[in-house]
Amino acid sequence: MLVYLNNGLVPEDDAKVSVFDHGFLYGDGIYETLRVYNGKAFMINEHLNRLNRSASLIGLTIPKTDEEIKKALFLTLDANGFKEAYVRITVSRGAGPIGLDPALCKEPTFVIIANEFKSYPEKYYSEGVAIMIPEVRRNHRAALNPQIKSQNFLNNILAKIEAKNAGAYEAVMLNTDRFLAEGTISNIFFIKDGVLCTPAVECGILDGITRSLVIELALKADVKVREGFYRSEELNTASEIFLTNSTMEIMPVNRVNDSAFSPGAITSKLHEAYKQVVSE
Ligand code: PDD
Repeated sequence: MLVYLNNGLVPEDDAKVSVFDHGFLYGDGIYETLRVYNGKAFMINEHLNRLNRSASLIGLTIPKTDEEIKKALFLTLDANGFKEAYVRITVSRGAGPIGLDPALCKEPTFVIIANEFKSYPEKYYSEGVAIMIPEVRRNHRAALNPQIKSQNFLNNILAKIEAKNAGAYEAVMLNTDRFLAEGTISNIFFIKDGVLCTPAVECGILDGITRSLVIELALKADVKVREGFYRSEELNTASEIFLTNSTMEIMPVNRVNDSAFSPGAITSKLHEAYKQVVSE
């Protein structure tokens, strides 16, 4: 596999960054994950906009324009011959002496990793996946705003460890005020009285690109949408629950802690609409 590192492609074994890279030392960097369907990068402009927003929120100058990033991305896909791919674009502060000052790093490190997309097991969609509510709270947005899609992922990793220990697929964190926030790598939706509910961005979540598209598709299908502040107990009386992200798309939930749920009609209708947009 070939990896794009800074200014060109290198074999994966040579795709190495310095131990002085502040991405490694401090998690000082940002990233995006997106899907390539049939050679086309899905919602690439939205992902680049968010990458630029994350960069500006941490005062990082991305060493490439959007056009240059797209070129590098397609070069990487072509060189590897990938048509159905998973892509991760990472930009770290770069290598510099030990110390927190970003000015210590002269040049950001820019990486594109593309890999063949391996589909999730079909039963994740037909039967759903289990989620749990972990003890760890989502980072407070006044401390480390989840809208910064940063390399600093320990908050999510701590939640993931709790999920694994509980035998769940995803952990959906509460915020520090105990309102539902988001999964470790996903946004959550649930349906109550026919209304599609999802935590508001103000709860302290990443405004997922899939989330925005799902909201748009629901409104188009005349499904009412409410972005709000929800307690986890609200999930108990939901008729359907699902997760979203760029690679999962729309994945039904069949268990929240000890309560069982079934994948429902609105979830599958929205997923069909999502696939339709992809195919267009
Ligand atoms: N994660 N919330 C968090 C914390 C995430 O990390 C992600 C995405 C999402 C969903 O965002 P989107 O719909 O734009 O993919 C929500 C990606 C997939 C990742 O970490 O690789």
